[in-house]
Amino acid sequence: MVSLDSPITIIRPHLIEFGVGIAERIGKWANDKGYSRILVISDAFNAKRVDALGLKGDVTVFADVTPEPDAANLDKVLEAANAADAQLIVGFGGGSAMDLAKLAAVLTGSSQTLHEVVGPNKVHGPRRVALAQVPTTAGTGSEAGIRALVTDPNTMAKLAVESMHMLADIAVIDPSLTFTVPARTTAATGVDAMAHCVEAYTNRKAHPMIDLYAIEGTRLVGKYLARAVEDGSDAEARAGLSLASLYGGFCLGPVNTAGGHALAYPLGTRWHVAHGAANALIFPHVLAFNTPSAPDKTQAVMDALGRKASDDVQSVFEAAYGFCADLGIEMKLSALGVPDSDLDAMADDAFAIRRLLDNNPRDLSRADIRSIYEAAF
Ligand SMILES: NC(=O)c1ccc[n+]([C@@H]2O[C@H](COP(=O)([O-])OP(=O)(O)OC[C@H]3O[C@@H](n4cnc5c(N)ncnc54)[C@H](O)[C@@H]3O)[C@@H](O)[C@H]2O)c1
Ligand SMILES: [Fe+2]
Repeated sequence: MVSLDSPITIIRPHLIEFGVGIAERIGKWANDKGYSRILVISDAFNAKRVDALGLKGDVTVFADVTPEPDAANLDKVLEAANAADAQLIVGFGGGSAMDLAKLAAVLTGSSQTLHEVVGPNKVHGPRRVALAQVPTTAGTGSEAGIRALVTDPNTMAKLAVESMHMLADIAVIDPSLTFTVPARTTAATGVDAMAHCVEAYTNRKAHPMIDLYAIEGTRLVGKYLARAVEDGSDAEARAGLSLASLYGGFCLGPVNTAGGHALAYPLGTRWHVAHGAANALIFPHVLAFNTPSAPDKTQAVMDALGRKASDDVQSVFEAAYGFCADLGIEMKLSALGVPDSDLDAMADDAFAIRRLLDNNPRDLSRADIRSIYEAAF
């Protein structure tokens, strides 16, 4: 574990606008900056309501971002971006749209390909186009961060690009844009936000400067997620979750996730389980596994979630499992259509994600991972 005297770098978008009903501020900002050729990168649902952003000028909308986008989906985005020759790119959607907007902002008109920029700090800057992010889910926190994730269809692995050049010039977070998120997606994306916070808080690289956001983000999810799942138009609950998502984004840059996300990724890449749903299914297993290495922080997490647990592994497991199951999230791998015969391949894939497993407070061997999948089955 690191401590207060360990160095840390914090980077945030220059401007963050937050508030219910403020989506149009993006249009005003773009207008003040003189951006008139604008490309909005969005999914089919959000593309239909681009008017909410109040953008003026020559606005092109790419409406075909798919959930958990792959390299082919990025290629289509880049084709649209090269044709649009925009001064401003706006990511408008969940993490999928925002991540592709980041990559479009740095790869459009660049000689670099996706494979050349995978990993940290590979992107040649400076980028030539402005970037704005407008999240419509409360989950990924991608609006505040410098990472983008795309699935490689050949290896089924998530390719992670990390670059300061993908930082947004402005993030406009309007929780009312999330009112339409269905209950199931609300639950899954909310747990994703919580997982970013918890995995950063109990991380080997956890830092006091980030712990503040991590534990508060966890508390916000504990307080508001069930309410938002129950009533999607509960503005206070939605705002609490949008804030938790942003705080999760703050956690991702300097600290990042750990074992939970590493074990969740193969569910998404191999079996198309939604990112948040995969994280929720894995969450109680990894939190319980990590408890002996981070007993005090695990206790603080359970308190923040409003659940009673001792520092005993089984008690943590049951409380964390109950938190997710009570949100209506499917907690069994077998019920998600994952066959028993794939658990070995999934364990191999997860064990290869060193960038995250090396952050985990307790070493997860390949056998540990296999046992967790078995238990979750
Ligand atoms: N960059 C990062 O730091 C980071 C962090 C976590 C996850 N991710 C990535 O983000 C992606 C997941 O993003 P996500 O969970 O936000 O989901 P998503 O963007 O894939 O969207 C999920 C679904 O919800 C729909 N949707 C989005 N907003 C809606 C709204 N307001 N109302 C109704 N429907 C809406 C979309 O059309 C889509 O069908 C994954 O690819 C994941 O790997 C990135
Ligand atoms: Fe995530």
